[in-house]
Amino acid sequence: MSLLKINDLKIYYPIRGGFFRTVVDNVRAVDGISFELQPGETYGLVGESGCGKTTTGRAIIGLNHVTSGEVLFEGNDLAKLSRGERRKYTKDIQMIFQDPYSSLNARKNVLNIIAEPLRNFERLSPKEELVRVQELVARVGLSPESIYKYPHQFSGGQRQRIGIARALALKPKLIIADEPVSALDVSVQAQVLNFMQEIQEDFGLTYLFISHDLGIIQHMCDRIGIMYRGRFVEEGSASEIYTNPQHVYTKRLIAAIPEMDPEKRFEKMHLRQAINQEYKNDYNNYFDKDGRMFDLKKISETHSVAMQ
Ligand SMILES: Nc1ncnc2c1ncn2[C@@H]1O[C@H](COP(=O)(O)OP(=O)(O)OP(=O)(O)O)[C@@H](O)[C@H]1O
Ligand SMILES: [Mg+2]
Repeated sequence: MSLLKINDLKIYYPIRGGFFRTVVDNVRAVDGISFELQPGETYGLVGESGCGKTTTGRAIIGLNHVTSGEVLFEGNDLAKLSRGERRKYTKDIQMIFQDPYSSLNARKNVLNIIAEPLRNFERLSPKEELVRVQELVARVGLSPESIYKYPHQFSGGQRQRIGIARALALKPKLIIADEPVSALDVSVQAQVLNFMQEIQEDFGLTYLFISHDLGIIQHMCDRIGIMYRGRFVEEGSASEIYTNPQHVYTKRLIAAIPEMDPEKRFEKMHLRQAINQEYKNDYNNYFDKDGRMFDLKKISETHSVAMQ
């Protein structure tokens, strides 16, 4: 059984207008997406700003309402549970946020930050709690005395490690990582990403990895879903997406990955021009007359594309 299965998820925000503030329309932040995560895999959700990635992640963890559709975690539909009933799954699904500056409470020291989920869910003596926090701090590569320090006394990369330690405290099964490194220096990004891969093995974690950066997604993910305006344009294994992209939007994203090799830059520029031309010429193959994406169609067992 898949660990997480999303079925036709829709999340709309009402737009109110007029004197009576009635609902005049909806922002279709997520407009009918479906995907599954197998235990132990890393699934990448990628797409440009505003396409609905964070909204999806927050809905899975219960921070966003769900307009319709299913969020099945180990077969249980979380979207239909009340807050109280959700509680037993809260331990199993944790989120790492983009901004390690604002996602940690500045007035709490590291001990209190990491112990908070433990206090909510487990009855530990102060001594047991301290041992658990020390283990977690060591596991994320921070020194033992850091537990008495406050978030502002750490670098961005260290802060993200504190966020990871807190996420790991309850031994979750699924971690939703929403742009976990995009606020960090490029030099620190690779460290944090490699570290996330290490703990994935150690803790047997499944990741839903959200990013707008296809380079990072390529490095981290087994399978990838490409989003555009709240819908999926393409889904496939990482290699299918990178070596055999089918949708022009996916091709554009891949062509936009910066080329490090100066000798290949010229080639890449031509590729980009060719794809922009394809986008103009073949627009009708990819979008219907209302400019909406087609539904996904399977082109192989693992690869689907939203084409006519
Ligand atoms: N509370 C809200 N009320 C109304 N519209 C919202 C709300 N939250 C998000 N939206 C809209 O939903 C859409 C999707 O937003 P979301 O934050 O999920 O995008 P994203 O893919 O995470 O983008 P980014 O890469 O910039 O983080 C956007 O058009 C956004 O304006
Ligand atoms: Mg986002």
